[in-house]
Amino acid sequence: MNRDAFTTTPWQDGFNIRIPEKATVNAPFDVIIIGAGITGITTGLQLQQAGKKCLILEAHTVCFGTSAATTAHLNTVLDTTYPELIKKFGANNALLIAQGARKAIQLIRNHIGQYQIDCDFEEKTGYLYARNEKEDSELEKILEGMLTVGIDAAPSFTTPVPIPFTTAIRFPDQAQFHPLKYLSALIDQFLEAGGTIREATMVEQVEEKDGLQEVSSTTGQYRATDIVYATHIPPGVNLLHFRCAPYRSYVLGIRLEDDSYPDALAYDLEEPYHYFRTARHQGAPLLIAGGCDHKTGHEDNTEQVFRELEAYARTYFRIHSLPYRWSSQYYEPADGLPYIGLLPGNNDHVYVATGYSGNGMIFGTLAGRILSDLITGHYSPYADLLAPSRIKPVAGFANFIKENADVVKHFIGDRLSVKSLDVFAALGPGEGSVIQYDGESIAAYKDEQGKLFTLDPVCPHAGCLVQWNNAERSWDCPCHGSRFDVNGSVLNGPAQKALQPLGGV
Ligand code: FES
Repeated sequence: MNRDAFTTTPWQDGFNIRIPEKATVNAPFDVIIIGAGITGITTGLQLQQAGKKCLILEAHTVCFGTSAATTAHLNTVLDTTYPELIKKFGANNALLIAQGARKAIQLIRNHIGQYQIDCDFEEKTGYLYARNEKEDSELEKILEGMLTVGIDAAPSFTTPVPIPFTTAIRFPDQAQFHPLKYLSALIDQFLEAGGTIREATMVEQVEEKDGLQEVSSTTGQYRATDIVYATHIPPGVNLLHFRCAPYRSYVLGIRLEDDSYPDALAYDLEEPYHYFRTARHQGAPLLIAGGCDHKTGHEDNTEQVFRELEAYARTYFRIHSLPYRWSSQYYEPADGLPYIGLLPGNNDHVYVATGYSGNGMIFGTLAGRILSDLITGHYSPYADLLAPSRIKPVAGFANFIKENADVVKHFIGDRLSVKSLDVFAALGPGEGSVIQYDGESIAAYKDEQGKLFTLDPVCPHAGCLVQWNNAERSWDCPCHGSRFDVNGSVLNGPAQKALQPLGGV
């Protein structure tokens, strides 16, 4: 299977999801869902089974984005800690989020039971550990917050990873699975229930016409009553682009010399944190170790980030081989909670789900439930709390200013910081860089045969300059996370148009 990057994840290796060709009828759909990852597929299945006629449009192939690159931790202990949630949103709302995480795992469990899905689902215990005094006191507060919102947790004198720690806690009822095996089965159910999926369909515009939403795309026009953007971040330039910051996380798939594979999910408290689990892959255990996150387009040498993660893993594990390494994208919300509901600045028929932090499997599943409730006119306890239009000046202010200042800096400052012409000649095979040539900024990539591809580095979304990601061989935009391949084609939105080619040399 393909995904939005150069590296291969264990999930996509040797795995394919084929969508049967089906003529798309001309009559309007009830709901068009844009994006076929966990959010789009779960939402589509929920709605189709609720009697709505759904069409899922996917710009590439199903699960092309982060759903093929997640590490698939199913956890109720989220990236935004419960003490933070209690402080920003109140204990009742924090409780609601904890229940939502549990509901998401339960919905996945139900699907697996109901449809007999063989997706390597396993219940696991989670561990969180501190490594110094400051983290000890942070962990103590986290434990207190977890107990306040009803999550079963207790101090632990052990952890499942051979990494020194000072204090630790353990929490049962977590889980893990193979995301593509699970989503492939959900797609089958969606199609069987009468849903339609069209791949290789890039949506270019959505506008209201005669009381319907008209979608113009590269494969034609489609109409529906309601639209859902399940594209990570919606296209266009709207409020959410200033309330979500794109990040990349790095992962290694490791075979060990010995048997010290953790039989649990484990996380440290560093900034950014490291995370571990074990998958059963091709008949043998595979340690999945992640971390070293950074903002998209903010790292000059992403290969070096992999080397740092590998060095970290080698400090504690006896590595036999490293068959997989990959990175993937997620969006950090300004106030710590995702945005799920009506897309601000649009009519009452355009929905969105984004800003999941590192909890995409949980919030993508919960979003399916929430969006389906909202669209079918049912009550959702999450409608106000997660509304994308929510104003949380106190809760989100510090982060909002930080992320926003960064966006502004990139809007005005990038053209001054590009590298010199020397780099143009010095580009090695497989390397890319934004260089200055004749007073112009050029995104230049040299392939393995020495052919040079040059693109206008101005991101068509809102005009920032893209940056080269050498590990994934993509052009990444530091402002809102759009990504492009070496030919300029869109890998991730919000950009809907390609980088403009300047010709080959
Ligand atoms: Fe917004 Fe590039 S993603 S300017």
